[in-house]
Amino acid sequence: MIEQFEPIARACTIEVPVAHRRPIALVGAGAIADLAHLPAYRAGGLEVVGLTDPDGSRARDVAERHGVERVYRDLDELLADARVDVVDIAVPAAAQPEIVRRALESGRHVLGQKPFAPSAAVAARLARLAEARGRVLAVNQQLRFDEGMAAAHEMARLGWLGEITSFTISVDIWTEWTSWPWMLELDELEVWNHSIHYHDVVRWFLGEPARIFASAGRTPGQAPRGETRTTTVYEFPAGARALVAAHHENRWGDQRATFRIDGTSGSVRGTLGLLYDYPRGRPDTLEVTSEVVRTDGWVPYPVTTRWLPDAFLGPMASLLEAAAGGPPPRTAASDNVGTLALVEAIYRSIRTGECESPAAPADIALE
Ligand SMILES: NC(=O)c1ccc[n+]([C@@H]2O[C@H](COP(=O)([O-])OP(=O)(O)OC[C@H]3O[C@@H](n4cnc5c(N)ncnc54)[C@H](O)[C@@H]3O)[C@@H](O)[C@H]2O)c1
Repeated sequence: MIEQFEPIARACTIEVPVAHRRPIALVGAGAIADLAHLPAYRAGGLEVVGLTDPDGSRARDVAERHGVERVYRDLDELLADARVDVVDIAVPAAAQPEIVRRALESGRHVLGQKPFAPSAAVAARLARLAEARGRVLAVNQQLRFDEGMAAAHEMARLGWLGEITSFTISVDIWTEWTSWPWMLELDELEVWNHSIHYHDVVRWFLGEPARIFASAGRTPGQAPRGETRTTTVYEFPAGARALVAAHHENRWGDQRATFRIDGTSGSVRGTLGLLYDYPRGRPDTLEVTSEVVRTDGWVPYPVTTRWLPDAFLGPMASLLEAAAGGPPPRTAASDNVGTLALVEAIYRSIRTGECESPAAPADIALE
């Protein structure tokens, strides 16, 4: 069986050929830049030539610890550095669209953070701008590169599962929202800032749903203003169903984050290791049973890397491949417009108590 996993492992390996490498500058030197972006890029052999953050002492500290040569005073100084070819963004969502616009207009390729924009319309306008400027614009939805999920996707792509009929993601964890003071004030919290990863991978596997129903709740005494648990049910045109349920107020220590994908010829089941002890976590687990490759029951796939930091090399590697003339990035902004339209439909459903259909990207008016 082990040799059957070889093409899966190859498809999940994230490497940046030397010919694809370009100098990167980072906007935002917060927790995720420190814990994930910079370690992942270093491991991938990428050069981060400078960074900027309005919190100057934080910027200097992060730069020094990761061996980043320059700390720019602001975005103007960063964009004036002719060495910078790619702008990588890790700031709160509200600040991002203006930075993306300015970086694209200066001729840079851009990797935006999730959530990419406050609306699908703003995302569509930025994707259009990138296209007009001939620049690559991608989004850091790196769960598509997390090894457990990426291996499951490759197994599905190779037909091991047959036709997918069901996809379930179930997360029951404690999230320390106070680590992000700006998130505590958001009216819409959970889907925009966490479950957006799950909704993005459900789209990656199954495409656009015909309709969804979503419900949200809070817990008495919770720190944030917005919702901390959401449940979304999907119906797809060909008959598949999906369920994404995420609860962040598990106060009892038994963190749990599982996924399962069922098809007509096989199934995969696994865990998202990062969420068992964020931010260190552990590698995912993944098991597969398939009539196509004849596993004779459930067989474990050996996951050897982590969501954080390893998967963070993926969106950048894919952007750099596109910039070198390769296919569009796996997490292209033009595709992410669909994820944001889905998030908007989820919040509409939460408000109305009705089923909703996400707007088709082609129907989204530009803002
Ligand atoms: N798995 C993931 O993809 C993942 C995980 C965590 C956070 N994030 C996202 O990354 C972003 C940052 O999260 P974080 O955990 O680093 O938050 P953080 O609060 O630790 O850091 C944010 C940083 O952005 C800086 N900043 C704010 N406005 C800026 C601007 N205009 N220009 C430059 N810097 C600016 C702040 O000074 C701060 O240092 C958020 O959008 C968050 O949703 C993604």
